[in-house]
Amino acid sequence: IVPLPAEVKMGKGNCILSNKFIIRYDSEGEGEIQNAIYLQNELKRWKLKCQLRTIQGLSHGQPSITLINYHGKDDDALNKYELDISKNSIIIYGSKKSLFSGIQTLLQLLSSNNKKLEIKGIKLEIPQLKIKDYPRFAYRGMHLDVARHFFPVAFIKKYIDYLAAYKFNTFHWHLTDDQGWRIEIKKYPLLTQVGAFRNGTITGRYPGKGNDSIRYGGFYTQQQIKEVVQYAAERYIDVLPEIEMPGHASAAIAAYPQLSCFPEEDTKILSSTPWAGSRKGKQVQQTWGVFEDVFAPTEYTFNFLQNVLDEVMPLFPSKYIHIGGDECPKESWKRSPFCQQLIAANNLKDEHGLQSYFIQRIEKYINNKGKKIIGWDEILEGGLAPNAAVMSWRGEEGGIEAAKQKHDVVMTPGSHCYLDHSQSKNEDSVTIGGYLPLEKVYSYEPIPAALSAQQAGYVLGAQGNVWTEYIKNSSKVEYMIFPRMIALSEVLWSPKEKRNWKDFEKRLPTIFERLEKEKINYSKAYYDLQATVMPTKNYDGVLWKAESNSKIGKIKLIPSYISSVLTDYIDPIMIKGNINGMSLVLIDEDQRRLSHIIQSFSFNKATGKKITIANQPSPNYPGDGAFTLVNGVQNEKGLAKGSEFLGFLGKDLDVTIDLGAVMDIKKVTLHTLQQNGSWIYLPSKVEVTYMYAIDTGKNALLGPPDKMLSVDVAQ
Ligand code: ACM
Repeated sequence: IVPLPAEVKMGKGNCILSNKFIIRYDSEGEGEIQNAIYLQNELKRWKLKCQLRTIQGLSHGQPSITLINYHGKDDDALNKYELDISKNSIIIYGSKKSLFSGIQTLLQLLSSNNKKLEIKGIKLEIPQLKIKDYPRFAYRGMHLDVARHFFPVAFIKKYIDYLAAYKFNTFHWHLTDDQGWRIEIKKYPLLTQVGAFRNGTITGRYPGKGNDSIRYGGFYTQQQIKEVVQYAAERYIDVLPEIEMPGHASAAIAAYPQLSCFPEEDTKILSSTPWAGSRKGKQVQQTWGVFEDVFAPTEYTFNFLQNVLDEVMPLFPSKYIHIGGDECPKESWKRSPFCQQLIAANNLKDEHGLQSYFIQRIEKYINNKGKKIIGWDEILEGGLAPNAAVMSWRGEEGGIEAAKQKHDVVMTPGSHCYLDHSQSKNEDSVTIGGYLPLEKVYSYEPIPAALSAQQAGYVLGAQGNVWTEYIKNSSKVEYMIFPRMIALSEVLWSPKEKRNWKDFEKRLPTIFERLEKEKINYSKAYYDLQATVMPTKNYDGVLWKAESNSKIGKIKLIPSYISSVLTDYIDPIMIKGNINGMSLVLIDEDQRRLSHIIQSFSFNKATGKKITIANQPSPNYPGDGAFTLVNGVQNEKGLAKGSEFLGFLGKDLDVTIDLGAVMDIKKVTLHTLQQNGSWIYLPSKVEVTYMYAIDTGKNALLGPPDKMLSVDVAQ
């Protein structure tokens, strides 16, 4: 079962669920009937070849699945349920909401214990057991960006079903952004007529190889939003809508240019951006990133946003409204005489103060309507709005700061919760970058170590984010979230002391089987070949070592591009010079390739040599340690991955390479990576010093140390 329940006591023998069972519920509340019907439909969906009857009232001997509402206030607050499976009876006790969690556990048990989800009118087996279960965190969220790419209502419902199956309780719906406005607002029809469509989309990784020139868009009508919210409510999932402000506003501005500080100016589009259609006037963005044209803090804008919120708030029962707040460039506000006047008139410190003023005005409006705001961690800058909750995404710091200020926090740091990052080092589809394997998601601890027990109480939970710049269809969404979302579910639901990666790994094959039965497109990166380049003992080459979690695969070697002969892989491979395209493949008994890695090695005088490092790299970009810098793996322009580099934050990269002998050096070349969107920048300065050893018999290191060499910085 995943997420792992708090307590499980196995019994002896099985319960045989057959079409003789009936579904009983103990009281006539709407929630009780809803739960019973949900269970009935789910079992029917599994080709049970019959529909179990639902009946109100407790059982008198007939085999049944009984849903009993505790009506206990304490248990309701804790969201606790019990599942009791004996020979002829399955009983779930809980509150309306927690009964639903119990139903999910039961459905999983049925799935895990039966090869096919089909009883053909016969039976399904489940072990007899008793479970007592409750969640660790109150907020268990999954986000979906429908602005960069749009997903139809049918898939949104499927997504909500996925959340329900793994006991998430919040769906964060990112409804507006630079590339599309996706929610109908009756008072402002142009938001969807104009703002929901773009004339094309860049192809390839940002800034783009070209533009597909295909008009793209879509939006949800208010009726559809209601339908989704209702669907989610029946699954005890809260829908948290996000209306982005003051940044990420290009689509709204394209519809209503007066929302900009400079309504007359064309949208700034770099000449290097591949573009479809007109570059004149205000445009919905066709590329990714952060854009300077943001909401002007004028009365027109506040009036507009308040009117928008007046239509948004009644659609969503959620206590919170997400107002974005992230990545708002301040250039326009700096340039705008109106903004500068507003800063002076309100005694604000600067443009950050103006952002805080903006958010606080919106907060006041939303609070007056009985709701609260939540925003990305930038809303801390210039002063947090009095009642705001914070989503910490640029690391843990925002969350720590907000909790210390006694504000509620949802943790969603890029390092562990951004499910748009690659989950495989061998990823062959384009992703936004970053490397977030399953194990790293599983290792996430939402309570930052820096918080006291009391401060930790402000951490409501955590959330997985799915930004869709490089996720164009629902099948890729599935691929990106599965199985990582399942790992996150255990982080959020299961008791901390029960969380154990080895145990999760043991359950993975069953988890994958279940995904297969449900025909979900999940990533098999867990079974990927993983290759590491390591130093040799004598620094006279490099070692290439491959591993896989797969039990069925065998690793074979293809020595170079020009060879197609599979030879046995002998662990590890010693490499002493340039190699063009050596491959490792994982093959199954039928010679099918399960996973494939191709690697070239390019040797120079430093390759394989002993390297020591003074400052450790940032934990987000550790590479494979300092050896990454001299491992003979060169990064091809345009294909380089962050995982092949070391990243430094606030400290210098300071390494010493011991060439082991005196040798001539004519040129030093350093490869660096630049991805401004991921905060990866070129070095501002590079220095090379050299020294040489003279064997005086005392192991002394002598020589002129501070000689500078000229350096090429190659991107
Ligand atoms: C974000 O990823 N810009 C919140």
